[in-house]
Amino acid sequence: MRFKDRVVLVTGAGRGIGRAIALAFGKEGARVAVNDLNLESASSVVEEIKSMGSDAIAVQADITKLGEVERMVEKVKSELGSINILINNAGYWTIKLFKDTSPEDWQKDIGVCYIGTLNCCKAVINDMIENRYGRIINIVSDAGRIGEPFLAVYSGAKAAVIGFGKALAKEVARYGITVNNIAAGVTKTPGVESFLKGVGGEEKLIKAYPRGRLGEPEDIANGVLFFAADESEYITGQTISISGGYTTLG
Ligand SMILES: NC(=O)c1ccc[n+]([C@@H]2O[C@H](COP(=O)([O-])OP(=O)(O)OC[C@H]3O[C@@H](n4cnc5c(N)ncnc54)[C@H](O)[C@@H]3O)[C@@H](O)[C@H]2O)c1
Repeated sequence: MRFKDRVVLVTGAGRGIGRAIALAFGKEGARVAVNDLNLESASSVVEEIKSMGSDAIAVQADITKLGEVERMVEKVKSELGSINILINNAGYWTIKLFKDTSPEDWQKDIGVCYIGTLNCCKAVINDMIENRYGRIINIVSDAGRIGEPFLAVYSGAKAAVIGFGKALAKEVARYGITVNNIAAGVTKTPGVESFLKGVGGEEKLIKAYPRGRLGEPEDIANGVLFFAADESEYITGQTISISGGYTTLG
């Protein structure tokens, strides 16, 4: 039980990568707050965690709205305790050539990926500073480091999160708080189903992945547990790719 009684908030955890992260912490004895826009899916993840014998609550909030995030964090504090580990996972992407995007598309991608991350960090950081302990892990994308066509606005939003994470890491390292980014490669979740169809199916894409398969949500969750571990307390401001060798940036 590596995370026994640590309080963890995972955003966008009703399905996909966030769900796998929430379950991984539940398995390790953490007290897990499962956030999503969709209360029904968050509640079903909570039931899965409770069946493992760990404590969990569902917290519905739109992370793009600071007021909702602040209320969510208060609820987590009163029901589970002060948040020790924040996983900024919720994301949104518009798949279009940039020339075809609208300001509404920009607002959605930047709102969920970047502003959502800022809101959640803002709502927990003072408690983490006071507690002299914290782990913040942002689920980003290699699109934010290498740029992906059809995902230009999303690439920029994830690049913003990476830069923010590095800077925040330097501001809060002295308080025992680490901030790291995990850049996922294509990972099989409900959110990428239409993307996979659009690129001609999984088999076609796999050819570009040296490991010979696409990512599973659990691959990303394993990386999250690594950064969250006590043993990783000297690792901060870093971005690693979990993509089976697809992206090999230094
Ligand atoms: N799946 C991939 O291939 C891949 C690749 C690179 C990066 N990522 C990143 O991983 C993260 C998770 O992706 P996924 O594939 O599991 O996504 P997904 O679409 O399958 O699930 C995302 C979840 O986030 C929730 N959500 C969306 N907007 C929200 C908001 N404003 N407030 C609260 N919850 C909200 C959704 O309801 C959904 O349950 C995202 O940040 C994504 O950008 C995914």
